[in-house]
Amino acid sequence: MEGGTRYLEKQEAARTTRKKWIVIGSIIGLVAIIAVGVGVGVAVAKNNSNKDSSGKSSSGSHSGKGPVEQSDPNDPSTFVRDANLKHSFYGIAYTPEGSQLPDCGNNLEDVIKDIQLMSQLTSRIRLYGADCNQTALVLDAIQRTKVDMQVYLGIYNIPTDPTPYTRQRDLIKEAIETYGVDHVAGITVGNEFMLNYLNANGGTEPNTPIGDAGAALLIPNITDTRNMLAGMSLPKTIPVGTSDAGSYFNNLVMESIDYGMANVHPWFANVSIDQAADWTETFFQENNVVVANALPNKPQMFIAETGWPTKSSDAGNANNGPSLASVPNLQTFLDTFTCQANQKGTGYFFFSYFDEPWKDKQFGGVEGWWGLFNADRTLKDITIPDCHID
Ligand SMILES: *[C@@H]1O[C@H](CO)[C@@H](O)[C@H](O)[C@H]1NC(C)=O
Ligand SMILES: *[C@@H]1O[C@H](CO)[C@@H](O)[C@H](O)[C@H]1NC(C)=O
Ligand SMILES: *[C@@H]1O[C@H](CO)[C@@H](O)[C@H](O)[C@H]1NC(C)=O
Repeated sequence: MEGGTRYLEKQEAARTTRKKWIVIGSIIGLVAIIAVGVGVGVAVAKNNSNKDSSGKSSSGSHSGKGPVEQSDPNDPSTFVRDANLKHSFYGIAYTPEGSQLPDCGNNLEDVIKDIQLMSQLTSRIRLYGADCNQTALVLDAIQRTKVDMQVYLGIYNIPTDPTPYTRQRDLIKEAIETYGVDHVAGITVGNEFMLNYLNANGGTEPNTPIGDAGAALLIPNITDTRNMLAGMSLPKTIPVGTSDAGSYFNNLVMESIDYGMANVHPWFANVSIDQAADWTETFFQENNVVVANALPNKPQMFIAETGWPTKSSDAGNANNGPSLASVPNLQTFLDTFTCQANQKGTGYFFFSYFDEPWKDKQFGGVEGWWGLFNADRTLKDITIPDCHID
């Protein structure tokens, strides 16, 4: 997500939540308010006991900006595993550092380190775009580290300019020609395309004439990606999908994809931390899974992003109303969402792998502070839940 568009999604999520609360009624609302108070107490107590008993420390085995330790310095597949990291995530959202035009600046060494770390947490990552050679870097790093990792590649196209689409499509084609599709799980065409289109054109509901006009711009890119793949005689069919805010899925778009990825953010919906995990699951099921399953092609739905920020760069965004941006609250969200979602079979991409200074610089607030890892790739002061998922 990007700051400029989050506001609208927040409004939309809040509106949906409001609608629901009105239906459920004020008595439950009162119970919820009491639960917030109790929940915060429980969360704080629990976190303290975690700290006291776990023996987990900031002395992780990887130290700051240096590489992950390798038994053979020249072979990235010999990296040393960190006992603090658990393979408990369905997926993780990832953008290699330095993957924004015009500066770029990403490099293979950093991406190898990221893949070494993320492969200890998950077997799936998703990218948002393909600029700055990030597709090739990620596929190359997976090959060199020899890890079990599937990647949903991304094309960050925009409604007002055809160039970003073709540029990224061609980069992906080239990367697939070089590295093959063994580690490619899908290609996601669009990141908040519909949210941005509706926002720019005075719409708020995806299934309206304005929404359909946006869909008419997005669908040709999806079709074009399918045609590109079909023309490559690949050994397997690569699914093509899109990613958008959870309340911005247009049915025509849904009917043209194999999978949809929905951003579902309790933080931006002003949901308190003690209700965040349940709210996320319920929102996703009601607004995305049920809707997708009612369509003839039944696209597979994932949560594209969910998580909790650990700080804000300004005091005004330090809370979402009921709850703080804080490390203890990220811990609570990890403890209440991750293993439960695994158990339910919900496919999600945890947001995010690491703190991203470029977002903080560009958008401020909480935007740069969603990582499990700090910007220097040290693990935050959290305990990764332990519930293995393949
Ligand atoms: C892109 O990354 C690949 C993989 O590491 C590398 O071989 C290639 O030289 C890079 N291309 C550019 C233009 O940097
Ligand atoms: C991709 O989408 C953009 C705008 O949404 C459009 O201008 C362009 O023609 C499309 N390109 C292809 C090849 O579908
Ligand atoms: C959500 O919380 C923020 C921060 O307290 C507040 O400014 C905003 O008005 C709230 N939004 C809604 C819809 O409740």
